[in-house]
Amino acid sequence: MKFTPYRRSTDRYLGEDSASRSLYERALEVMPGGNSRHTLVMDPYPIYAASGRGCMVTDVEGEERIDFVNNYTSLILGHSHPGVTEAVARVIGNGTAFSLPTEADIRLAELLIDRIPYIDQVRFANSGSEGVLLAVRAARAATGRSKIAKFEGCYHGIYDYAQASDSSRPRNWGDSERPATTLEPSMAKSLETEVITLPLNDIAVCSALIDEHRDDLAAVLFDPLPAALGLIPPDVEFVSALRAKTRECGALLIADEVLSFRIDYRGACHRLGVEPDLVSLGKIIGGGFPVGAVAGKAEVMKVFDHRGGELVHHGGTYNGNPVTMVAGYETMKRLTPEVFEELERLGDRTRSGIGEVLGRHGIEAVATGRGSLFATVPGNEPPRDFRAVFTARSAAPQLQRIAREMFNRGILMGARGLFGALSTPMGDAEIDRFLEAADGAAEHVLGA
Ligand SMILES: Cc1ncc(COP(=O)(O)O)c(C=O)c1O
Repeated sequence: MKFTPYRRSTDRYLGEDSASRSLYERALEVMPGGNSRHTLVMDPYPIYAASGRGCMVTDVEGEERIDFVNNYTSLILGHSHPGVTEAVARVIGNGTAFSLPTEADIRLAELLIDRIPYIDQVRFANSGSEGVLLAVRAARAATGRSKIAKFEGCYHGIYDYAQASDSSRPRNWGDSERPATTLEPSMAKSLETEVITLPLNDIAVCSALIDEHRDDLAAVLFDPLPAALGLIPPDVEFVSALRAKTRECGALLIADEVLSFRIDYRGACHRLGVEPDLVSLGKIIGGGFPVGAVAGKAEVMKVFDHRGGELVHHGGTYNGNPVTMVAGYETMKRLTPEVFEELERLGDRTRSGIGEVLGRHGIEAVATGRGSLFATVPGNEPPRDFRAVFTARSAAPQLQRIAREMFNRGILMGARGLFGALSTPMGDAEIDRFLEAADGAAEHVLGA
């Protein structure tokens, strides 16, 4: 694919006649905080997008940047892939949604089942949050129990049972051997007892907490590559002990692969060597359109089957709509094992390059992530739990500032440290530009 030639961008969006600023002022009038998604918040206001093609995004001031965040990891083929766009255009011309099923969701389900070794069946939804919600509801229906356990600090979308404790802080997180279940004011107080918060990588503490609730525990929800923990996978031994513990007490193990599915042809749990009972999916499987899914063994997934008198009633006006399903299928079919290998090679180059650049500037940090996902955590070795990541990040705000400065050097980045996701239109030239920008940004931030 050919790209628009790279032009070094400036901070024109901050200027006197900024189109982004006037859009933000309009947005503030009609949406609280000016948006419908907190991940868009940027200081002093966001850069507004005008268009995207391949790995480039053009903003409303006409400036181009290489997109290293890809709608928070969901666009693995970059923007407006011609094959996907053509297929979607054909679907749109034939009707976008029906109160009748189509073949489109069957084809995407078949593809996913063919790839993920431990699933027999899938149900689709419209967001990763719903994929997580459906997995939790399925686990409750399958076990007849109501509580769930999740790991401190991990983000799983906006279902309140899964969102509890995702924003734990030193002032409220409590004892490390009994992490508090922290809640937003919008969440029901009863979640304090319904959700058990676990510390990652400490099987002794996790087992003790699971045992305390063993008769009521429906599931343990975990992320095989949690972004909030700096994209550091849990220890293999820990995950295998957790698998054994959940089996022993009759709770299901749910893997949230909404984000991490993009690291491997067969997904992140396959990489870790663990077989969960249920998996939540989203992001890349929608090919750039809103999507979510829950998948698992037929034995568990039967809770959705109306023929047995469904135990989880699953509605959703746009579930499995042909636009998303065709975009997802057209995207996933292009992601062959060779494509994942190339993304991994570029990911490895990015990670080692970041380590080198930061080292050159005397910044102690480890480059983390797997496959096409990368992040950076301050310190000289990868932290092993949320508290360590949080403490390291709070003590070293310069990574955040470097990421921010990279916007001015032609790179779109994730908000938290140097967090990003590669896409297939990228090659070595884009990684070179990224590292060049990181170098310049580090020099700028440290010299300021
Ligand atoms: C691990 C994980 N789970 C769930 C979600 C929620 O997905 P969605 O934003 O599609 O609701 C996200 C979103 O970033 C995620 O990263």
